[in-house]
Amino acid sequence: SIAGSDHLRHVDSMTRVPSGAGKISYLNAVVLGEALASEENDLVFPNPEFSVQALVSSPEQYAEMYKKSIEDPASFWSEIASQFYWKKKWDPEVFSENLDVRNGNVKIEWFIGGITNVCYNALDRNIDVGNGDKVAILWEGNEPGQDGKLTYRELLEKVCQLSNYLKDVGVRKGDTVVIYLPMLMELPISMLACARIGAVHSVVFAGFSSESLSQRIMDCKPKVVITCNGVRRGSKALALKDIVDSALVECNKNGFSVGLCLTYENQSAMSREATKWQDDRDVWWQDVVPKFPTKCEVEWVESEDPLFLLYTSGSTGKPKGVLHTTAGYMVYTATTFKYAFDYKPSDIYWCTADCGWITGHSYVTYGPLLNGATIIVFEGAPNYPNPGRCWDIVDKYKVSLFYTAPTLVRSLMRDGDEYVTRYSRKSLRVLGSVGEPINPSAWRWFFNVVGDGRCPISDTWWQTETGGFMITPLPGAWPQKPGSATFPFFGVQAVIVDEKGIEIEGECSGYLCIKKSWPGAFRTLYGDHERYETTYFKPFQGYYFSGDGCSRDKDGYYWLTGRVDDVINVSGHRIGTAEIESALVSHPQCAEAAVVGVEHEVKGQGIYAFVTLVEGVPYSEELRKSLILMVRNQIGAFAAPDKIHWAPGLPKTRSGKIMRRILRKIASRQLNELGDTSTLADPTVVDQLIALADT
Ligand code: WTA
Repeated sequence: SIAGSDHLRHVDSMTRVPSGAGKISYLNAVVLGEALASEENDLVFPNPEFSVQALVSSPEQYAEMYKKSIEDPASFWSEIASQFYWKKKWDPEVFSENLDVRNGNVKIEWFIGGITNVCYNALDRNIDVGNGDKVAILWEGNEPGQDGKLTYRELLEKVCQLSNYLKDVGVRKGDTVVIYLPMLMELPISMLACARIGAVHSVVFAGFSSESLSQRIMDCKPKVVITCNGVRRGSKALALKDIVDSALVECNKNGFSVGLCLTYENQSAMSREATKWQDDRDVWWQDVVPKFPTKCEVEWVESEDPLFLLYTSGSTGKPKGVLHTTAGYMVYTATTFKYAFDYKPSDIYWCTADCGWITGHSYVTYGPLLNGATIIVFEGAPNYPNPGRCWDIVDKYKVSLFYTAPTLVRSLMRDGDEYVTRYSRKSLRVLGSVGEPINPSAWRWFFNVVGDGRCPISDTWWQTETGGFMITPLPGAWPQKPGSATFPFFGVQAVIVDEKGIEIEGECSGYLCIKKSWPGAFRTLYGDHERYETTYFKPFQGYYFSGDGCSRDKDGYYWLTGRVDDVINVSGHRIGTAEIESALVSHPQCAEAAVVGVEHEVKGQGIYAFVTLVEGVPYSEELRKSLILMVRNQIGAFAAPDKIHWAPGLPKTRSGKIMRRILRKIASRQLNELGDTSTLADPTVVDQLIALADT
């Protein structure tokens, strides 16, 4: 059998639809499913009307395509890649990869010899085939009633003006541009403008603090920073440029200065007059960009030229600059988008993610626009002015594909069905989930209440590093199981390995790894290829290690179980415990900190911090607040601990290693599952911690 194709053995049984098949819709299959004892046996069969029109309409069709993608990746991907525009075609025989550190450096390359441009393929190519007047972006502002739109032709013109401006101020192919913007149309415009001229963008989520921003700027040394003066999200207002200003001051102190800060005037949030300004560095977008021509020559780049850098958290302190390149990422994001959402040209697509995260790169901007889709860019908060906002937007724009995170599903579920059912939602066709495992009860609510039992759910498992979907349902193809991401995407050889790195077959649990590369894989960590190899390719030699635990059930379905490293997933935002610890210990009164993740009803995981104070400092409410503020200021509000637990001492081994296993149990109050504490240097600290748990 082909490695990672264990699940194909079940194709036959999956096709055997229960008797009365024609009548079985998702809805009654769920009712049927609820009666079954375990989640594993809870099969939700696709509605035949959906399957008939689906791009992949049966398990057999999936199996056939999957087999081809694994047995002959060159021809599988070449066929798809031929649908894009290439200035020069790649050398058809050359795909090179080495994922095994024992054979030298890890080097992944796809479509070598090819010359293309992602922006050209997303905009010019779609206009050439007659989609110039199709709406590319529907923009919905923070306040209901505030909106805007751009057709593909208008979007291209805006992108070209910015590309021309950037060239005029000296940005060249290979230069970096940092983008620190909220969800305005100018955010995807900025990304595409960089791609057009071969500049490498690095978007920093506008919820990151000035410290985090400066850290990223110092690492990638951009020629220009693009931002806006202010933003409103929900009922909160933020002076974004002030944050950039202090980040740039910090950079200056460390010997790096950014010469140009292009600032978009976000009038509805903040006036020019109220914006702090530095004349020799700051330029208003509206004063310069519109003066440039609406046509701009494309900078043709090689397949493996970098497209963007995106910083993400790992187990150790410093965020890593994940580097994605041009051709493989382009082909992969476009293809995964098309199949996982069963995309049709008439669809209206809305992904609620922010472009500051990978989901916003691959599935707000690149994947959908490469398919010529109409996307929604939403500036606001999904529960503002009330928890019905999402469905208001769905009805307003007739959204057919809706992609979000389990944390939002859970929070809306808590707000009550009436916020959902008061809207029609008839336009919805496919729902999507990303960022963390979706628990079966949230899955069912999403399916039954939001989708009226009519829309398949694509629970897409993937990572910043993978560029695009890796394990995902293809709507209409397979029966689904609530909470399972189902099966690997084409070309993905997902394997589960044990502690020793040995592949396990059949029904099992272990570490999720990927054998062989896929086009969307990241190629390196910016400036640190060694860390790339050590983190991802050394733990299990010959494989890419995801950092996630996973099990496979008797029918071959994959169930993601969460991170197995020191990364916490808070509301679908990934954050390293080490980063939070380092922020906490930078507080002058904090001597030591240990952070663990705990289950959280809405956020998925919450942040639980144990802190030891400097000798003689008493613990107080005031100190608790200032510790939390420290994290907000150093990382961002989303990383603020949910709980500070004062720890006069931490459980350590005799060699000084903190026993996080014990801390996790204390944090989740599983006090009778503490396990063996006899190896601790001082076992009494455990009782002390338990006694202080609720102070
Ligand atoms: C988790 C986000 C279960 C996982 C795209 C992964 C998921 C990390 C899912 C990557 C899913 C993402 N089911 N877990 N559908 N999607 N994850 O880099 O732990 O921000 O390793 O990429 O999110 O987070 P990242």
